[in-house]
Amino acid sequence: MIGEMLTTHSLLVKIFLGFLVIGIFLPFIYGKDMRSFKKMSFIYTMIFQALTTMIAFSGLIPLFTGEGMNFSIPIAIMIAVWVIMMYLEIKKHKNIKVAPMQDEQKFMMLKGKFVKISIAQVILVALMVIIMILKSKGIIF
Ligand code: HEM
Repeated sequence: MIGEMLTTHSLLVKIFLGFLVIGIFLPFIYGKDMRSFKKMSFIYTMIFQALTTMIAFSGLIPLFTGEGMNFSIPIAIMIAVWVIMMYLEIKKHKNIKVAPMQDEQKFMMLKGKFVKISIAQVILVALMVIIMILKSKGIIF
């Protein structure tokens, strides 16, 4: 049960990484179409929240029910990464949601921000995966 949860956790993290990588390219599809960009951003954020919720759930259950699974530095880092990513995502989505439809300059800025935040999130998740690989090999922690 615990093993299955962690396998799911690990798989979800990889799916999430793929999703984030695709996200980097999404703003380029919406040339000057702010309305569609806003719609896409809403759907993107919903999928983002669904995946991060499943990741947290599949990580927290083994932590609280697992025998011999203690709170450790990697787990603290994971929770911190999770909180940072949620914060970035909610802030980004709110900015896009409240942006006026006609402001083209703001639209360009928001698209740039979307790309930058996606890149930052990809780096965070990739670093987390690397940290956990190094941990499993006994190199760190
Ligand atoms: C509330 C948030 C989270 C909790 C409670 C949590 C908990 C855990 C636990 C208990 C493990 C097993 C640790 C071990 O084997 O020593 C684990 C593994 C892992 N977690 Fe998380 N996690 C969370 C979020 C995340 C996030 C956001 C990421 C990615 C950015 C992530 C990436 C990983 C990876 C890559 C592994 C290793 C999986 C493997 O062995 O294949 N976790 N997590």
